Amino acid sequence: MSSPVLIAAPLQSDLADELVLRHGAVTEPERGVTVAVTTSAHGLTAEQIGELPDLKAIVSFGVGYDSIDLDAVRERGIVVSTTPDVLTDAVADLAIGLLIDSVRRISDSDRYVRAGSWVTLGTYPLTGHVTGRRVGVVGLGRIGQAIADRLTAFRCEIGYRNRREADVAYPWFSSVRDLAEWADVLVLAAPGGGDPLVGAPELEALGADGHLVNVGRGSLVDESALIAALTAGTIAGAGLDVFADEPDVPRELRALDSVVLAPHVGSATHDTRGAMADLVLANVAAFLERGELVTPLS
Ligand code: DGY
Repeated sequence: MSSPVLIAAPLQSDLADELVLRHGAVTEPERGVTVAVTTSAHGLTAEQIGELPDLKAIVSFGVGYDSIDLDAVRERGIVVSTTPDVLTDAVADLAIGLLIDSVRRISDSDRYVRAGSWVTLGTYPLTGHVTGRRVGVVGLGRIGQAIADRLTAFRCEIGYRNRREADVAYPWFSSVRDLAEWADVLVLAAPGGGDPLVGAPELEALGADGHLVNVGRGSLVDESALIAALTAGTIAGAGLDVFADEPDVPRELRALDSVVLAPHVGSATHDTRGAMADLVLANVAAFLERGELVTPLS
């Protein structure tokens, strides 16, 4: 049976079922496929694109597109959609959770209680403070702005680094290093795909009381430099939802009590994943019916 829709990556089952029900979606590349549905985790390689001679649109579940070969996409005039907006709140919520956990050491306190150390060692050591701290946001897009909005309720001072200055009241910094120097906590909410923005110099600038939170992409950080800084205590802690080589998280990171680790779950709530699936279905339908995408990449 042929279909214009290919399921090109593992999808949550309700979405895959709906694509099969509505469009008879296939799971192997074939002639006649005009829309490939993938995820931000799996993307689409140039080789996969090459196997689909009639492909005209890629519809991706998720907001990141660093895993899609954009050169091959441009060369073939293929259009791409992602699922922006609907996941903004969930990812921003998680960023705040990781920030508070890293600074107040909630996960480590939990381990302390479970191990019986409250009884054997006494009170837990004092931690850093969240309210009123300076937070530098790298990538003040939809998610970065939602993180900043939440942090204003904590009376935090916000600074940011984008390539260009945005029309916002927060101070813009001309480099991530300068932002790290200014900030108590650096939050990464930028797309990945390029060279790391945070390496040894930025971590050194963040300083021994500083914390790093990453809900963007693992590729934004030089992971070896981060492990070195955490191990030496030249930064105080980190809260990470994304890693360089997911799902493999380096043993050194897993061994550190000063880091909070999440398995790339920024958008992983029932509500958000449901809304993302609906938006994928709307993009597929709009492309098949009108040759347009609801949320095209600009
Ligand atoms: C995405 O969709 O690209 C984000 O990583 C969500 O966690």
